[in-house]
Amino acid sequence: MTSPAPATPINADAFWMPFTANRRYKRDPVLFSAAEGMHYIRPDGRRVLDGIAGLWCVNAGHRRPEIVEAIARTAYELDYAPSFQMSHPLAFELAEKLCEEAPAGFSNVFFSNSGSEAVDTALKIALGYHRARGEGQRVRLIGRERSYHGVGFGGLSVSGIGGHRKPFGNLLPYVDHLPHTYDREQMAYTRGQPDWGAHLADVLERIVALHDASTIAAVIVEPVAGSTGLLVPPRGYLQKLRQICDAHGILLIFDEVICAFGRIDGAFASAHFGVTPDLITSAKGLTNGAIPMGATLVRQHVYDAFMQGPDSAIELAHGYTYSGHPVACAAGLAMLDICRRDGLFQRSRDLWRYWEDAAHGLKGLPHVVDIRNIGLLAAIELAPLAGKPGQRGYAVHQACLERGCLIRSAGDTMLLSPPLIIEPAQIDELFAVLAQVLRAGD
Ligand SMILES: Cc1ncc(COP(=O)(O)O)c(C=O)c1O
Repeated sequence: MTSPAPATPINADAFWMPFTANRRYKRDPVLFSAAEGMHYIRPDGRRVLDGIAGLWCVNAGHRRPEIVEAIARTAYELDYAPSFQMSHPLAFELAEKLCEEAPAGFSNVFFSNSGSEAVDTALKIALGYHRARGEGQRVRLIGRERSYHGVGFGGLSVSGIGGHRKPFGNLLPYVDHLPHTYDREQMAYTRGQPDWGAHLADVLERIVALHDASTIAAVIVEPVAGSTGLLVPPRGYLQKLRQICDAHGILLIFDEVICAFGRIDGAFASAHFGVTPDLITSAKGLTNGAIPMGATLVRQHVYDAFMQGPDSAIELAHGYTYSGHPVACAAGLAMLDICRRDGLFQRSRDLWRYWEDAAHGLKGLPHVVDIRNIGLLAAIELAPLAGKPGQRGYAVHQACLERGCLIRSAGDTMLLSPPLIIEPAQIDELFAVLAQVLRAGD
């Protein structure tokens, strides 16, 4: 372990930080200067137990030597290669291995640089798919309330967080939203999937009746909504969405930017829920967060729909300068090796019940109004401070950080999503610190 950087003051002015209250942050900047395994290290040497895997992405723990070495080796050998009309072996190898990990029938991978780009790519592929099959009038995209699909205009348009959408005008036309699946009265303190709520998928039939199936290209949902406060799908809900999409020729996209790579169960959560979508989007854990990469996986019939006409024609007019970047591919391959060799997905399954019991152990503490969990994900929802939504959550997050634990707040919901290498004693530590803070709070 290299020693942490000395605590030198920084000039925080120039960096316009994402999803941050910049002025509040810059009065008292929180910095991390190193990371290792389950921990961040602050510039003054204090260690912080990472309860959110960075930002839901460092599934195999921080600074894995295998990934760091793969990145360094590849940067020395092949710093960059385009994938427009040429490419390099690592991109093909990673695409093939991802298809092996995906549910049966997934045959092709389109690479991008983030979850947002993976989503926009999926939406464009869905529109292009229908046009290629002579159904170019299918232009409508259906998202869901309280969903997060990134910040591109496409992903934002199908997202369902009002505060993210409001500043940016009309967004894409021809978008509609399903209702979200959360009802505290019906499902508070459920462990795993709630029994109530599958009928909410039937609203898709109403949306189809309203707009006509012939205008609808795709439905996109996170199998488990993450950023918006961990909304676990009711039993049977995803199956119903699949059935309705099938009945009307609508593509189903699962946004697995958070759910994949062992976070819930196995490489992709679709298998756990027993529902196979037509497209899957992924990012984050794909490279263990070590370098940006997004991926959109498609089933054979989606790819085949594009592979028509003269073979000199570009089938999908879409791509990024850094699609399939060699360094990102090397990181992705090293991550898959770790998952396979270390049995990371099984480790996450083995910890699930311990994690669940620890999370639900907070029931009854001050301000707690609900606890939700699935896989190595948990949410502790707190009652908001009167007239100040989000402030209690932020204060709890800050207090946990000062006590050495990184726990994210989304409004007044505390979110936990640790690296899958977490030890039971560290699970105890995370929830004990959160409990201490809640007991100490006013
Ligand atoms: C489900 C989901 N989709 C898309 C995104 C966007 O990913 P990125 O921030 O890499 O663009 C996120 C990010 O948290 C996400 O959770």
